[in-house]
Amino acid sequence: MSETKIALVTGAGRGIGAAIAEGLAARGMTVIAATRADLDVTDDTSVAAFASRCDRLDILVNNAGISGGRDGQTPGEADLAVIRAVYETNLFGVIRVTEAFLPLLRKSADPRIINVSSGTASLHWNTDPAHNFAARGTPLGYPASKAALNMLTVQYAKAFPGMSINATAPGACGTDFAKDLGLSLERTAADGAAIAIRLATMDGPPTAAFVSDEGPVPW
Ligand SMILES: NC(=O)c1ccc[n+]([C@@H]2O[C@H](COP(=O)([O-])OP(=O)(O)OC[C@H]3O[C@@H](n4cnc5c(N)ncnc54)[C@H](OP(=O)(O)O)[C@@H]3O)[C@@H](O)[C@H]2O)c1
Repeated sequence: MSETKIALVTGAGRGIGAAIAEGLAARGMTVIAATRADLDVTDDTSVAAFASRCDRLDILVNNAGISGGRDGQTPGEADLAVIRAVYETNLFGVIRVTEAFLPLLRKSADPRIINVSSGTASLHWNTDPAHNFAARGTPLGYPASKAALNMLTVQYAKAFPGMSINATAPGACGTDFAKDLGLSLERTAADGAAIAIRLATMDGPPTAAFVSDEGPVPW
């Protein structure tokens, strides 16, 4: 009988991360649902201490993320401190956590990393006049941090061909994240979690892909 798979989800206290953790647990995995208090992805000591307490890992879901809000993220009025904070969580946080857990993932028979990105990171959609992103103002640092996360995903995937390493676009969901930006959205956290759960559980997963639950997302 095969061993129960172990998954770590960051930012799992609420929103899409909580829904990913619940979904993986419901599918029989042992899930480490890490909240910020357990594992602050911006803090070297916190991440190293948490990693030192784990002895196995099959699936890492880098979900923790922030928008940074709208203030200081408008082109022409950019506040570098705000944008640095966004990058610290959404990009450097992912590198910090991934590097800390790679030694365990490399021992897994079926290692997977799922980076929760965003459709707003798509350069194609942002420059396609037929797509609503082309005309819409989005906070400056947030989509840039997620576009960088996508490139990070590809670089890790190339470096570790034995792993499945992908980025997801959860779609705009009515979590606190959206409410804090003044958005009212019908799509639920569970809807946004579905693609990460699929990548974590499917047979023959892709690697170096950017996907939503509707299929590949153009980079
Ligand atoms: N909602 C959307 O429309 C949408 C669309 C595309 C992509 N996403 C992405 O989906 C992911 C989850 O978003 P969400 O909508 O679920 O947002 P959310 O409801 O605001 O939840 C974000 C989670 O990330 C955690 N977090 C933030 N900074 C952290 C840190 N430094 N260390 C550890 N955990 C931290 C939060 O912890 P606390 O509770 O302690 O703050 C919270 O659990 C994010 O990466 C986001 O960019 C969301």
